[in-house]
Amino acid sequence: MKIVNTVNEVREQVRAWRKEGLSVGLVPTMGYLHEGHKSLIDRSVSENDRTVVSVFVNPIQFGPGEDLESYPRDMDRDAAVCETAGADLIFHPEPSEMYHEGFSTFVDMDTLTGGLCGKTRPIHFRGVCTVVSKLFHIVTPDRAYFGQKDAQQLAVIRHMVEDLSFGIEIVGCPIVREEDGLAKSSRNTYLNEEERKAALVLSRSLNIGKELFENGEREAGKLKDAIVEEVQKEPRAKIDYVEIVDWKNLEPVEKLDREVLVAMAVYIGKTRLIDNMLLHLTEA
Ligand code: PAJ
Repeated sequence: MKIVNTVNEVREQVRAWRKEGLSVGLVPTMGYLHEGHKSLIDRSVSENDRTVVSVFVNPIQFGPGEDLESYPRDMDRDAAVCETAGADLIFHPEPSEMYHEGFSTFVDMDTLTGGLCGKTRPIHFRGVCTVVSKLFHIVTPDRAYFGQKDAQQLAVIRHMVEDLSFGIEIVGCPIVREEDGLAKSSRNTYLNEEERKAALVLSRSLNIGKELFENGEREAGKLKDAIVEEVQKEPRAKIDYVEIVDWKNLEPVEKLDREVLVAMAVYIGKTRLIDNMLLHLTEA
């Protein structure tokens, strides 16, 4: 496995692979890799001849006052995770390699990005779409792998690929959780022991919603109330949002009569965590 820092080195390597007729998978990450990231790399390795993992804490997707500076980084460990999983190339650029002086072209989306995380993180998806577009142009993969953990991001990337005719297959991968239900996240490292326990309220409240749905509840408002009520029982938790939206267009729904996304962002102390689940009626 190689680690490279420049766009040209990636292009050269991919060109050589293409000459051999090899397929290429891309797993974009911000590093500090855990089992969730590894599941994406595993999937790419199993579906492509070669796998590129990008490790880049993308400054333009962080708003003022967010955790850009403190975002955890450990390149040695990340390299070991990638190597073990069978990745072939890590692209680990400096910010100046991705955003040269005077950089001023952005990919912005008019739909899908206004609600959920976009409400409190207004420039976030512009930053994500821009960096992912760049990575797609640099790596030109056949397939790219994204986690359902960031459900809105997955929906946004799928939409962008369609709108801008990237011709890349976007593969969505299930959420990987800790044994006790907490969705794996690089940001979980911010939690102290008490907060780590409190963080279980996200998956627990989603499960309460799921149970209600499975027992026949079809009013989105009722499901949301039950979830909010459970989160509010946890004194360390402060809700950013709990929303139930149509999985196709991320618009709020009243009835649970189609595939819906139940998504939440909750502060545990100072740490903002997200979690979600998809609900759909199974054919009788
Ligand atoms: P990052 O948060 O590092 O996540 C990289 C990928 O790993 C994303 O597709 C994310 O959904 C997936 N992932 C994270 N935790 C997961 C889990 N518990 N189970 C399954 N998949 C999980 O998302 C980003 O980076 C950035 O926004 C990026 C797309 C790299 C653009 O900068």
